[in-house]
Amino acid sequence: MRRPLIAGNWKMNGTKAEATDLLNGIKAGVAGMQKVDVAVCPPFPYLYIAQDLLAESAIAWGSQDVSQEPGGAFTGQVSAAMLKDFGCRYAIIGHSERRQFNGETDALIARKYAQAVSNGLVPILCVGETLEERESGKTEAVVAKHIDGVLDAEGVDAFAHGVVAYEPVWAIGTGVTATPAQAQEVHAFLRQRIASKSKQIADGLRILYGGSMKPGNAAELIAQADIDGGLIGGASLKAADFIAICRAGEDNA
Ligand code: PGA
Repeated sequence: MRRPLIAGNWKMNGTKAEATDLLNGIKAGVAGMQKVDVAVCPPFPYLYIAQDLLAESAIAWGSQDVSQEPGGAFTGQVSAAMLKDFGCRYAIIGHSERRQFNGETDALIARKYAQAVSNGLVPILCVGETLEERESGKTEAVVAKHIDGVLDAEGVDAFAHGVVAYEPVWAIGTGVTATPAQAQEVHAFLRQRIASKSKQIADGLRILYGGSMKPGNAAELIAQADIDGGLIGGASLKAADFIAICRAGEDNA
């Protein structure tokens, strides 16, 4: 079956010293967990610290974005090959904050996804609806569009090499979490959408939930049939909270 994955999305937070403390704390706290995959996604400048501190551990690390271009004159961008050079396994792609604040489109996100895969990174493709979209009954249409961006451009095989994260925008950083039933409904819909092209790939695809996942609600979310772990923002900045969520993944595996 699918191994749960708990990934921390640190966003634009921390200092060198804080990153070091957090990584050391997480490393000590998850040592011995064997059934859950754990990953951290620090800001780009701190990836080398993850590479230094986590190299001998079972914890993987990744970036929060990747360029859609392989290299060259693209000021300010970071290529998938560079991320591999720093030992990254994962790259978060299409987070709602990048869609909202950086104008990322499904077409651009599909190119980033392809760059990640072709360089041996595992993309974590974020999808999710705003509150307004949910309230007007558009949740399925919106997440379908987000998934179809990659499905249409790259084909279903691309999902054999990636992870999906369902992150309702109204739940991100708000303290309001989707109920387990609300999340499960969308996760099942997403899996079905992939299954309509390949049941085998859909069955193997990890679909994470993200949006105010915390120690107090992680277990019941991860217990849902189609929820295979979490993408954790705020709670990934506190070692004790992140470790407790990893523990929920370990216990639900
Ligand atoms: P949150 O963020 O856990 O702080 O809601 C999740 C995310 O944006 O990935």
